[in-house]
Amino acid sequence: MSASPASDRAPVTGAGRPIDLRSDTVTEPTEAMREAMRMAVVGDDGLDGDPTVRELEAVGAAAMGKEDALFVTSGTMGNLVAALVHAGRGGEALVDEHAHVARSEGGGISRLAGLMCTAVRSHDGMMDLDALAASMRGDYSRHGAPTAMVVVETSHNHAGGRALPLPYLAAVSERARAAGAAVHIDGARIFNAALAQGVPPAAIAAFGDTVTFCLSKGLSAPMGSILAGSRDFVVRARSYRRMVGGGLRQAGCVAAAGLVALRDMLGRLADDHRRAHVLWASLRTPTPALVGNAPDTNIVLVHLGASNPGGATACAARLSARGILVRPRDADTLRIVIHRHIDDDAIRVAAAEIALATGSEH
Ligand SMILES: Cc1ncc(COP(=O)(O)O)c(C=O)c1O
Repeated sequence: MSASPASDRAPVTGAGRPIDLRSDTVTEPTEAMREAMRMAVVGDDGLDGDPTVRELEAVGAAAMGKEDALFVTSGTMGNLVAALVHAGRGGEALVDEHAHVARSEGGGISRLAGLMCTAVRSHDGMMDLDALAASMRGDYSRHGAPTAMVVVETSHNHAGGRALPLPYLAAVSERARAAGAAVHIDGARIFNAALAQGVPPAAIAAFGDTVTFCLSKGLSAPMGSILAGSRDFVVRARSYRRMVGGGLRQAGCVAAAGLVALRDMLGRLADDHRRAHVLWASLRTPTPALVGNAPDTNIVLVHLGASNPGGATACAARLSARGILVRPRDADTLRIVIHRHIDDDAIRVAAAEIALATGSEH
């Protein structure tokens, strides 16, 4: 059946809110977060410290098994500050070719931190280990600076929320450390990865010298990320955070929501994973090629195939007209993200509409 008639019918959600599957960043703070923010004990974090921020940093560091941590405004700032500390001007960073830090953070690690950034061939979020080894530079040469940092991302956004296998992380870590390079984990969704792999997040973070994780995605806090590492690393990171405009004042007002996120919201990520699986299974039944492998976490990729009229952009527009918001990952692929505001009914409706819009309904 042709996909185009789907947009001619009345939107499924009527006058209500659309079913927003664009990202888990659309989650809004819970009532408990709003209350905690209202009641937060605060101080000047740029002077003698904010007690709520300090508490969040301690809880975040403990969750990652690191000595210390720093509250930063976003995942992007966490990754940027890590690059500044690990390398600064003139060093080289190796990242996988589809890494968020390479594709979606404004080029900050090159443009602001001054690193030469080399993208390593990758599949399913994982760099080709031979290509990684071949890219590693031990010293200055006519061609460039030594590799100062290797970045791995888990769960991997572009790879559909893949929780990267621990043996892969171990292999990257071993190669990087042998070459004297630091490993930074972009763990924006590390709690999703840990849940999928049945390990504590610290078991993943152990493969990195430093790790960033986000409070503002599936955990529903309104803003903020944590950058964790050794005590020395955090001393230097605090100074660079100030340099990039992240020296905050009464930030306990928002850190309080982050504490609630880490206290209350980790367990419920399992609901997002279960619903992502339900969506995947219902799309897969008529057309297995539409969705590929089962999702590890809360992201489902829909592969439209070259024959779909207008590709991912047109398909997203057809869905939007029906009240289902999704984002193209690339020309032929939609990225669908499940989060706290998506319940079982929304999954059922979304599955039916996606099947219609992609021309793959039963
Ligand atoms: C894997 C990954 N890393 C980093 C970020 C950046 O986080 P922020 O939007 O808080 O800057 C994102 C955001 O979606 C992400 O998916």
